[in-house]
Amino acid sequence: MKTVIKNISELIQTETSARKWVAGKDMSHISTIKDAFIEVEGGLISSFGSMEDWNGIEDWNNTEIIDAEGGMVFPTYCDSHTHLVFAASREEEFVDRINGLSYAEIAERGGGILNSADKLQNASEDELFEDALARLNELVQIGTGAIEIKSGYGLTLDAELKMLRVIKRLKAASDVTIKATFLGAHALPKEYTENKEGYMDLVINEMLPIVVKEGLADYVDIFCEEGYFTVEDTKNLLTAANKLGLQSKTHVNQFNAIGGVKSSVDLGALSVDHLEVMAEEDYEALKGSNCMPTILPSCSFFLRIPYGPAKRMIEEGLPVALATDYNPGSNPSGNMNFVASLGCIQMKMTPEEVINATTINTAYAMGVEKELGSICIGKKANLFITKQIPSYAYLPYSFGHNVIEKVMIAGKLQ
Ligand code: NIG
Ligand code: FE
Repeated sequence: MKTVIKNISELIQTETSARKWVAGKDMSHISTIKDAFIEVEGGLISSFGSMEDWNGIEDWNNTEIIDAEGGMVFPTYCDSHTHLVFAASREEEFVDRINGLSYAEIAERGGGILNSADKLQNASEDELFEDALARLNELVQIGTGAIEIKSGYGLTLDAELKMLRVIKRLKAASDVTIKATFLGAHALPKEYTENKEGYMDLVINEMLPIVVKEGLADYVDIFCEEGYFTVEDTKNLLTAANKLGLQSKTHVNQFNAIGGVKSSVDLGALSVDHLEVMAEEDYEALKGSNCMPTILPSCSFFLRIPYGPAKRMIEEGLPVALATDYNPGSNPSGNMNFVASLGCIQMKMTPEEVINATTINTAYAMGVEKELGSICIGKKANLFITKQIPSYAYLPYSFGHNVIEKVMIAGKLQ
């Protein structure tokens, strides 16, 4: 069975062969085809081009036609950083912040990540799965076609495994491409307040080997930050994970630059995420590496903290990815359209830079750049069709509105 989408006013982010990522000056360019069609077979992109070059229908009995009616077609977003599995919202902390408390002060009072961990430990696997699946399905409708999901609200062996099993069930239940990340080192549980070494020992020597043995994680992560985990902890965890064949993606430089970028890069991290605060040596560490700097602008928006310096990174010739960080504490939104708008509005990225940062570069940051992140023959047919819009810049411009009309995942309309 073939599917053809015809009458596309502009097909966005086309590629003749799959690239690794887009960096530096190249980020200001995207390839597009005006007045285009795209063909899908077996869930993959089989052909695309301008309507003039379309050969028409060869086999009417085996072809489904979708009329884009002058809308544009984009590859779906890849969201390479989320905490989609959680037990409860935390709007009481949101109110506390409005009333003047900081993220750190709320965490010190037992709120923050530990608050989510308490609730998650008491939630059943089925409940967590149903809630996360509902969230995932909602995100698909607004254009997300690949997502990385972290554990890290368990903080005990049982609860971390429960979270990772939920992610495994999501992988089986959805056609969306999903990657799982083990984030046992997200915060120090209360019982370990005076014994951080004890908790790191549990994460590294008990949790990590079981997670790897059971094949429950694609990556490992750690929150490298003052008041959470040190650069030393980061090095120890990443070294242990490397020995077990598990690559890392790390939380670094959200509030303080303490050296986590360099250690992560040196230990082969696939991405370093947050980067609201960057030291000069962090740029140097990233240059020439295979690590994707990933910025999370809706977290900056929600916590009123600085935005990561995307333009400076681009000037330095680096690639930049933009993801959501969807989680109940620091950003309760999984909307990649809003991330794209913030990239333009608050970070002064151009629409082209933002499209590259939310598709091909986030695909790299979750290890799926060969199968997703662009319109390329052989890649997975995860696309969205927009309403009629005047130009692709209209998408980030029209912040807070939804211009997405239809979403296709693995060749199937959702
Ligand atoms: O990426 N920074 C650390 N972890 C999450 C926030 C988690 C929370 O507050 O629940 C983040 O922002
Ligand atoms: Fe995060």
